Amino acid sequence: MLVWISLYYVAFYVVMTGLFALCLYVLMQTVDPYTPDYQDQLQSPGVTLRPDVYGEKGLEIVYNVSDNRTWADLTHTLHTFLAGYSPATQEDSINCTSDQYFFQERFLAPNHTKFSCKFTADMLQNCSGLADPDFGFEEGKPCFIIKMNRIVKFLPSNGSAPRVDCAFLDQPHELGQPLQVAYYPPDGTFSLHYFPYYGKKAQPHYSNPLVAAKLLNVPRNAQVAIVCKVMAEHVTFNNPHDPYEGKVEFKLKIEK
Ligand SMILES: *[C@@H]1O[C@H](CO)[C@@H](O)[C@H](O)[C@H]1NC(C)=O
Ligand SMILES: *[C@@H]1O[C@H](CO)[C@@H](O)[C@H](O)[C@H]1NC(C)=O
Ligand SMILES: *[C@@H]1O[C@H](CO)[C@@H](O)[C@H](O)[C@H]1NC(C)=O
Ligand SMILES: *[C@@H]1O[C@H](CO)[C@@H](O)[C@H](O)[C@H]1NC(C)=O
Ligand SMILES: *[C@@H]1O[C@H](CO)[C@@H](O)[C@H](O)[C@H]1NC(C)=O
Ligand SMILES: *[C@@H]1O[C@H](CO)[C@@H](O)[C@H](O)[C@H]1NC(C)=O
Repeated sequence: MLVWISLYYVAFYVVMTGLFALCLYVLMQTVDPYTPDYQDQLQSPGVTLRPDVYGEKGLEIVYNVSDNRTWADLTHTLHTFLAGYSPATQEDSINCTSDQYFFQERFLAPNHTKFSCKFTADMLQNCSGLADPDFGFEEGKPCFIIKMNRIVKFLPSNGSAPRVDCAFLDQPHELGQPLQVAYYPPDGTFSLHYFPYYGKKAQPHYSNPLVAAKLLNVPRNAQVAIVCKVMAEHVTFNNPHDPYEGKVEFKLKIEK
């Protein structure tokens, strides 16, 4: 009798273990190692600014054109940031020129990965820090660098590349004229060939594309508020819970 009960339990546990193993196996089959398990509920990317100096109420940049010590840290931040976009750090990425979405079904790049497109600092021309190591701060026409955060498999628009648009936040401004901006690359766009992003494991060498905005007519000795928005069909910038979604706002005061 005792033997039969023992056998019953042994059989019972064997079956239970088998079922558990089967469930685990099925679950593992459905997990794709190349996409994050928990994709954040981000629908629209965040936007960040360099140089990034925070005051009491968000980004606040103040400097004096007549005193290079007041902007040495600001240009240093830009040089440090762009060091990640030197030709050497981008050498594992490829040259892309299509300006079209770069869809990659297969893993054709070395080490079973997908290709990433190069973005080198020189593409920011007058805001690259190469020809003008002061990034325009000395002449009172400073460069700001705008970066859109990456979202796996996000396609920003249907057709045209996302474009950065910067303006005074409180128009009509006392200056009486709109903000004048020189964008680099010249049209202020993030080329579509940097999208979609397939994740860190699939694209270990991916770098976010950048746009630089050189502000040409900021008044002296007055604080102005500026907003830079990313204009694209699938990028929204009116989320009350996330002020940095699709746009970045900052205060700027250029003293002399
Ligand atoms: C500021 O300018 C002065 C005079 O041109 C120069 O000697 C000094 O090294 C500069 N300082 C910085 C931090 O760039
Ligand atoms: C990519 O472009 C750079 C600069 O235009 C050039 O020097 C380099 O040879 C190109 N690389 C390839 C693989 O085409
Ligand atoms: C491929 O992997 C090897 C070893 O991890 C690494 O040394 C090499 O740089 C990788 N190649 C590329 C192009 O990422
Ligand atoms: C870059 O700056 C130089 C000197 O200020 C100017 O002549 C040139 O037009 C600028 N280039 C672009 C593409 O804006
Ligand atoms: C994308 O644009 C094309 C042409 O402008 C249009 O025919 C198509 O319906 C659009 N698709 C979506 C998903 O908006
Ligand atoms: C800017 O720096 C110059 C030279 O150091 C100084 O004379 C001027 O008062 C400063 N401006 C402001 C608004 O602090």
